[in-house]
This record gives sequence, C-alpha cells and structure tokens, in this order.
Amino acid sequence: VKKVEEAGDPRDFVAKMERAGKRAVIFYGSQTGTAEEYAIRLAKEAKSRFGLSSLVCDPEEHDMNLLDQVPENAVVFFVVATYGEGEPTDNAAALMELLSDTEVEFSQGGNRLENLNYVVFGLGNKTYEFYNEIAKKIDNRLTELGAKRIGERGEGDDDKSMEEDYLAWKDPMWESFSKVLGVEEGGSGDVADFVVTEITNHPPEKVYHGELSPRALLAASGLSSGTSTPVNGGYGIKNPYPAPVLASKELFQLASKGEEGDRNCVHIEFDITGSGMTYQHGDHVGIWPSNPDVEVDRILSVLGLDSQEKRFGIIEIESLDPALAKVPFPTPATYDAIFRHYLDISAVASRQTISFLARYAPSESAREKLTNWGTNKELYAREIDGPALKLAEVLQGAIGDSIDPPFNNSTIWSIPFDRIVSSVPRLQPRYYSISSSSKLHPSSIHVTAVVLKYQSAASPIHHHEPRWVFGLSTNFILNVKIAHSGSNTPITNGNGNDHNDDEQKNALESVTMKKFPSYKLAGPRNTYVQQNVYKVPIHVRRSTFRLPTSPKVPIIMIGPGTGVAPFRGFVQERVALARKAIEKNGPDALKDWAPLYLFYGCRRSNEDFLYKDEWPEYEKELKGVFKMKVAFSREMTKADGGKVYVQDLIHDLRSELAPLIINKRAYIYICGDAKSMSKAVEERLCQMLGEAKGGSAEVEGVKELKMLKERNRLMTDVWS
Ligand code: 2AM
Repeated sequence: VKKVEEAGDPRDFVAKMERAGKRAVIFYGSQTGTAEEYAIRLAKEAKSRFGLSSLVCDPEEHDMNLLDQVPENAVVFFVVATYGEGEPTDNAAALMELLSDTEVEFSQGGNRLENLNYVVFGLGNKTYEFYNEIAKKIDNRLTELGAKRIGERGEGDDDKSMEEDYLAWKDPMWESFSKVLGVEEGGSGDVADFVVTEITNHPPEKVYHGELSPRALLAASGLSSGTSTPVNGGYGIKNPYPAPVLASKELFQLASKGEEGDRNCVHIEFDITGSGMTYQHGDHVGIWPSNPDVEVDRILSVLGLDSQEKRFGIIEIESLDPALAKVPFPTPATYDAIFRHYLDISAVASRQTISFLARYAPSESAREKLTNWGTNKELYAREIDGPALKLAEVLQGAIGDSIDPPFNNSTIWSIPFDRIVSSVPRLQPRYYSISSSSKLHPSSIHVTAVVLKYQSAASPIHHHEPRWVFGLSTNFILNVKIAHSGSNTPITNGNGNDHNDDEQKNALESVTMKKFPSYKLAGPRNTYVQQNVYKVPIHVRRSTFRLPTSPKVPIIMIGPGTGVAPFRGFVQERVALARKAIEKNGPDALKDWAPLYLFYGCRRSNEDFLYKDEWPEYEKELKGVFKMKVAFSREMTKADGGKVYVQDLIHDLRSELAPLIINKRAYIYICGDAKSMSKAVEERLCQMLGEAKGGSAEVEGVKELKMLKERNRLMTDVWS
C-alpha cells in the first residue's frame, strides 16, 4: 500500500499525483457541496470501473498554473457549478481569472496546454440566462489553448434533471476516457477502500469499545480533554453525550389482549446535568442504539470471528483514499464492538449489500442465490424483505444453515473485513421528539416512545413461520429501561476494558430475558456503564417546532398516540411561564392568556392513555387556559357507528376553533402518524376553514391552509 502523506508542496497537485500514482485529478467548483459530490462520484466510478484512483481537489487550494505539467497519460476533470448571472463559485474564482487572462503564463513560462486531457461537467440551472456558463467558458478556453477534451461537455440542469443529465453523459465519456488512457474496464467493481490490520500490544485505553468520538474515549479513560466549555458542551452528532439514564418507566403495557400482540410505551429521562448541553421544547433528540447480543453473535459466527480470541482481537482500519472513503467509525476497535455499536447489522439486508457480497460466497450455489436476490426485485421482496431477513440471516440461508441460535455454522463466509466495512451501513442515531420542556426540566431530556414490534411474512428460505421483528432503537430503549430499573446489582466497570464483565452482563440479562425473551440487551458500551447507571449516547437536533413566545396567541395542538410527545413539552413550557407570571402578578395573571387546546387520541381511557395522571395537574396550573380533548377510539362511537378520532373532536368544536384561527391568528401544530392521521386532520381543517370563510373545503379551505403553512402558523412534526 502506497501512502500519500510525504512532505511536499501542498499546492502542487501534479507532484501529489505522481507520488500517489494517480492518473486523474478532479477539481470541483462547488458552493453548497453538490458539485463536490458529483466529483467524488466520478472518482469512485473511475476506481470501480478501471481500478484507477484519483485525486479530488479544491481548485482554490492548488496552483492551477501547473496545468501545463500534467502528464499526457493523465486526465484533469472540472466539475463546476455556475451561479446567478454566470458567476463561478467562490472556490473557482481564481481559476477563472487565470484562464480568462489573455496573456496567461503557465508554470513553465508557456501559454499552451497541448498535453492536457480534460473532462468537463457543469452544474447549472436552466431558469437562469447564463446556463452552465462556467463549464462552457472552461471548455472553450482549454480547447483554445490546445488541450484535448475527452467525451462531450456534460451539462446538468439543477432545475429539473441533474441526475438524468449526469447519467446520460457519463457512460460515453468513460468510453472515450478508457480509449485515451488505454485502460480496460475491470468489470468487478470491487476495489478496496480500506486496509484492516490486526494489532497486538495496543494500549488498552486507546481501544474503542463503542465510544463514538475521541473525546468520549478520552473521558472514558479518566483523562479530561481540557477545561474550557465549548458551546453546548461540544456535544452534537459528531460527539454525542453519554447520558446517564435518570429514570424510566413503562407508560402502559398491553400484554396478550389479542390486539396486535403486546404494545409497550416507554418513558425515559436522560440526565444532562453538567454536560453543557441545552435544548428547547419541540427539539429532537438523537439516540444511538446498539445491536442485541443475538445479532452480534450471529454475524460473528457466520464470518468465523466468534472465538474469544478473534471477537476481542483489536483491529485498526485505515482508508486507502480518505478523500473518497472515510472509515465510518473510530478505530482501533474490536470486531465485537464494531458489530455491536458501529454497524447496522439488525436492518433488513439491502439488495445492494447482498449482490456486492455474492462474490465471496463459499459455494457456487450460494453465489447464485445471492446474485438472484440482489438482481431480482420480486424474489428479493418475497424471500428477503417480506420475511425481514438481516444480512447474517441471508448468509445463513444461502448455505442452508438454521437461523436459530445457538449458531453452529456449517460453512464460514470468508469475506475480507474491509469489504464488510464498505458494504454494511453504519449504525445511525434514531430521532425522537423531546417530550419535556427545558423550562421545567433544564437538566433532563424526556423521551416517549412506543416500542416497535411487527410480524414479518413467513420465510420460504428458512421454512419459517412469520416471526416478530423488533425495532432496534425502541427495543434498545425498553431494555435500557428494564436494566436500569430492574437491576439492584451494582454494575461497575472501572477500567473500561474488561470485555466479559460477567457480573455486569448477568445483572442486565436477568431482568431483560424474562421480560422480552427474544431480544436480549446489547452488551453495553463498556465504559458507559458505571455505578449501576446505564449511559446512552445522545445529541440534540434543533427544530423549528416551537410555541410563539406570547401566551396571548391561541394554540391548537393535535397529537394522538405518541404524537403527544412534543405537546407534553409545550404544555410544560406554558406551565413554567404561568408559575412565573403568577409569582409576579398574582393569581389573575393568566386572565388574558389565550386558550391552549390539546387534541389527543388513544384506544381506551384505562389502557394506553399516555401521562394520564399528569394532564389534570397541568389543567389546574393553567386554569381556564389549557383544554384537553381526548378521543378514545375504542370506547366512543359516532352516530354512524364509526370510531371517534381527534379530527372528529376538532370537527365538533369547529365553531369555537375557526374564529381563533381566522381572527385571532392561532397557531396549529400536528404531530404523529404522517400517513393517515395528519392527512385526515388537514382535510377536516380545510373543511372547517372553508365553511367559516363561506366557501368550500376544496377552494377556500385549501387556500387558507396553504396560507397558514406559508406563515408557519401550521406546523407539523410527523413520521411514517
Ligand atoms: P385505533 O387504533 O382505534 O384505530 C393512537 O394510536 C390513536 O390514534 C388510537 O386511538 C388510534 O385508533 C388512532 N388513530 C388511528 N388511525 C387514525 C387516523 N387515521 N386518524 C386519527 N387517529 C387515528
């Protein structure tokens, strides 16, 4: 492996190409990053088609007058955007100045570029007059200077068809490219992005066991990272905060009622004391889950990495080309930690991953199966997606092994680990609406989540009946909840490096197993379990789902099911404000406050009514202001015998609500199911507003709703 990082002039791209043996350099003129993305795609394609690695460069950071020194067997790409009235992007301004100079002088004193091969792809917008002006200028000028263009000039239209324009342009371009450079298509598309090295004698405190950032590792090893406190504690998506679980409870649990199996809903509170993190009502919190034991064991076994030695062996992963592919998680780490905390092995395997891995099949028949699943959409839907097979289950299925533990795989899949890193997606955080108000709870973040569980289709490969499939993150939260509240044994892990702290694991499992037998708790990130407190990495994502500052603006909140989560925060926010107002101005302080409506829906009053005991308290504190209306869908029936939903309650109160919206500039918020609920609610709002305006739902109602959305007086936080 040749390493690029030798000393040299950082602006000299020609020397860089030579040192690294690269025959293509791709310059991007990018303002928002789109041109850069296309540049990276071209580089990846050069690599997968021809095995050619290229340099992706910002022209601003390089001496562009070295264009005369680019060797004849190399190619320079320009992927450039055009802005406004034919302007270059900021980072291409100097390049354009150089090229438009009529008395241009390149590095060796000449003014010709006869040796230069180049490719141009422009990103523009047809609604502007000077469509792709910069790409045209570069192309014309380079030709004028004697350079040779490879393929046609590509022009993408950002207004309509960028992707199609790009796709239609690139294949003929690559054909000419291969002729000019004399390179052959490799066909396999299989080029390593990473090198994996097994290492020994590594300082244990420098090994990652699930920590998500260097700072988290440093904190875990007991060293501090300095004294200054950065904004928000320096925590964010790149550096989530390992938050202790402060409290957790099941808000309801419906077991074996014969109604779609068990349903659980968990309330969990994360402690952010002293972290420097802040949040607002309506923000989201990203929670970083871990994979359950059973899935970690399964994939390690399938790949032949399940011996204690292998599993906890330490590996280092380095990118062969950091500009093209970054190592998606921190290393050195163990195989166990990588599959447990960093890679998404619990998701249904994608067609892309399956077809990519076909070439590593241990037998011809297994290879054929994977290829078929990867290429035949219907077959994939029936045999993989419907039965919800995870990657390791697909690999087990392809060689005829059982998917039930204990795993004794008959054949090992020897897949180079760097290909696993390239083809299995990274485990991503899951986002939840925060269900608390920072005014009432400045040092904790509350989350309300229904635990996801659904029945898959039967699996023809494994001859399996339909099975339960567990949502990764909500089940992770449920298990954290159980571990946290159910365990009395102190869970300690002082040095953060013992992988097999039996005491700790038993404490967690003893409670977990009983409760949810098929989903064992993921082994905790070692260093995140301390003094019987489970820590979960979290970060806050800002949203615009917020109350207006003044309590004199009427508010209408609509959130059935867990859609009520942010509204608990909203109501708490107003409670905090009311307390202050009353303290200052006495008991009449809320007299001129506008009403705060909450439309909530659940099945039954004594079953799944979230925060049932809290709402009356809020009503007391917000006397005359807070009005909660609940649709118990399986207790109440309409005149026509149908279920009563939130939209029906809104309809009943239309004579009260419409004037608030039309005359009093009320704000409306909808949260929850995007598919049927929010659509049905919007329809009823249109009907109400259309009628109130003396017109129809379809014309006046739709117009009014559109206006409300444009003015941010109707806001939604919905999911499907
Ligand atoms: P259901 O399950 O009895 O149909 C929270 O899930 C609540 O939202 C439940 O009471 C559920 O009723 C209800 N719900 C289901 N579909 C809905 C829809 N299209 N509009 C509004 N509420 C709905």
